Amino acid sequence: MKHSALFTYIERLQGERPWGHFLDAGTGAKSLAWVGSLDTKQWTAVTASTSMAEQSKAQFPGVMRPQNRIPVENWIDPKLVSGETFDTVLLDYFVGAVEGFAPYWQESVLPRVSQLVAPGGRLYITALDPYVPLHAEDEVGRFVGAAMLKHADEMQQRGLELIARHDGLAHGFDYVIAAERTA
Ligand SMILES: C[S@@+](CC[C@H](N)C(=O)[O-])C[C@H]1O[C@@H](n2cnc3c(N)ncnc32)[C@H](O)[C@@H]1O
Repeated sequence: MKHSALFTYIERLQGERPWGHFLDAGTGAKSLAWVGSLDTKQWTAVTASTSMAEQSKAQFPGVMRPQNRIPVENWIDPKLVSGETFDTVLLDYFVGAVEGFAPYWQESVLPRVSQLVAPGGRLYITALDPYVPLHAEDEVGRFVGAAMLKHADEMQQRGLELIARHDGLAHGFDYVIAAERTA
């Protein structure tokens, strides 16, 4: 099975380091299929959506081992995987999706999830440039879509100015961010 180039890039970054206990913090059919193909000790794949869990399980190409889990829970619940740490944590197209399940909580999700990385473990974040999905079917849709695009353009302009001023990440690419917990 061919996996996304972002995942194969993560495999390169990981090198010989063991995947260990793996957390897919926002799972779906694609990330779960990839995680399932890795030599992990065990994996936990969280989603807030029952249908996503069912779809991911139905499309899972491998065999689910007893130590693998797909909790359908919300990260705002402090009890979710409390007391556990993970050698590898993946946030795959996750941060942007948080808004749909935990409104106004996007900024809290990184502190929440990063504390689950075991010492010496790694956190990987994949993301695409934000985009506005525009399916305008009538006049109202076109009005809302145009307003959203105008807002997105203004934000993009402000973002580009900030990037230029602070010599930040280039815009217009897919990104993989790898962070390591040292203590
Ligand atoms: C866009 S999908 C991720 C795509 C997925 N990695 C794939 O391979 O298709 C976002 C995932 O994050 C989960 N998610 C978003 N916010 C969440 C939250 N507050 N708690 C738990 N899961 C959340 C969603 O339920 C969904 O499973």
